[in-house]
Amino acid sequence: MEIVLYLVYLIASVCFIFGIKKLSSPKTARRGNQLAALGMLLAIVVTLFDQKILTFEYIILGMVVGAAIGVIMATKVQMTGMPQMVGLLNGFGGGASALVAFAEYDRILHSIDGFEISTTITIVLSVLIGSVTFTGSLIAFGKLQGIVTGKVVKYPLQHPFNALLLLAVLAAGVFVVINPSEINIVIAIVAVSLVLGVLLVLPIGGADMPVAISLLNSYSGLAASMTGFVLQNNMLIIAGALVGASGIILTIIMCKGMNRSLMNVVLGGWASAGAEGPAANGKEQKGTAKSVDAEELAMLLEGASSCIIVPGYGMAVGQAQHAVRDLMNVLEKKGINVRFAVHPVAGRMPGHMNVLLAEAQVPYDKLLAMEDINDDFPNTDVVIVIGANDVVNPAARSDQSSPIYGMPILNVDYAKTVVINKRSLNVGYAGIDNELFFYPNALMYFGDSKEAMSKLVSELKEL
Ligand code: TAP
Repeated sequence: MEIVLYLVYLIASVCFIFGIKKLSSPKTARRGNQLAALGMLLAIVVTLFDQKILTFEYIILGMVVGAAIGVIMATKVQMTGMPQMVGLLNGFGGGASALVAFAEYDRILHSIDGFEISTTITIVLSVLIGSVTFTGSLIAFGKLQGIVTGKVVKYPLQHPFNALLLLAVLAAGVFVVINPSEINIVIAIVAVSLVLGVLLVLPIGGADMPVAISLLNSYSGLAASMTGFVLQNNMLIIAGALVGASGIILTIIMCKGMNRSLMNVVLGGWASAGAEGPAANGKEQKGTAKSVDAEELAMLLEGASSCIIVPGYGMAVGQAQHAVRDLMNVLEKKGINVRFAVHPVAGRMPGHMNVLLAEAQVPYDKLLAMEDINDDFPNTDVVIVIGANDVVNPAARSDQSSPIYGMPILNVDYAKTVVINKRSLNVGYAGIDNELFFYPNALMYFGDSKEAMSKLVSELKEL
């Protein structure tokens, strides 16, 4: 029986690894997800048979209720609400790991087995990381949902106090490893870790939450992996480690795309992040921006032979992806070469733009990553920026005093004409003005992205 168990675990692990590999391309991502889900199903079924379960009633009840809630949440959530949903799921993952580890602690405490030192260490780590992840993720969810303040929260002695709490919890952990029967200390570790989760995430600005959520995702994986050691379950160790590693890789990619250090995000970096309203950084606007309407823009495009579309957060907010696909179709019918330039941190979550455009059936080969298309802007007739702001802000290249200085951007200003669609001259995520709007080759096309694109498509069809 044991050999079958290990074999199935091996197959499930391979499914996870290939599943993750397939996620690296939009073409294979759906299959990757299915493969990983199949791996998880195999792992759950074989574990249930292996664990000499006395009664399945509660397990089945839990699975049915949990699956029903999951299906409802997943179908109801808006694409723009995805980061907080992921945040919530991370929190539950961390909480579950902490609960399982605590239950195992309680079982050993009341059995004649006795504690092995390695088990106690992993129990402590699991309840610590799991509890921090649980409350930290709930705060992250609250910030993105607008329930908790999205502002960077700062108070005196914040970092020393957090460091002290962390030290206290680690010291308590060492004490428990030496005296494993001290259940009160274990409960204290849980309590302090729960508080620590709140205090660590509270200072982070709401707009930095996607990065924090990615980090918490990594923590939830670590907690699961630790619980795997507690239960001596190889599958859980592997699955947790994969989540932990992929979460941290994603966090690093996001930080690199924003040219920020992880510390800068975690310690409450851009104080202005997420601020709305013009000139949030207090700088004066340079001149006036020229604007076009749909008819004028259609005429401009009529004379173009190449066009690059740059989607941003505003496309997601306006749910304009289908209208953008229609725009691509009508331009291509007119013989214009259309491609999309996707910045690694455009939108509010990794792959945000790719997912939306794939949903609208824009062919994958039309979506080009920044490094593959950035040199083509000077040879492009018209660039249409749809609801993007920071990822095309030239201040990142030239203004050393800008908070986004050094962040790699799409060189849209090098094109012959760049048209920017957004509702106003307001700032984006980083809360800073964008000089691009006042460049001689720039034209503002004001309006909600979906409406503006639909209008443009109608105008183009009439020409
Ligand atoms: P942003 O710089 O946030 O700008 C989005 C712009 O969209 C806003 O200036 C807004 O201007 C416009 N907008 C909002 N709703 C709109 C609508 N319905 N129709 C048309 N326009 C609309 O977006 P970006 O250029 O995509 O940059 C992303 C930012 O998020 C970066 O700073 C990045 O570092 C950050 N970030 C990204 C991620 C990931 S992983 N993607 C994670 C964390 C942070 P108006 O109000 O004038 O319309």
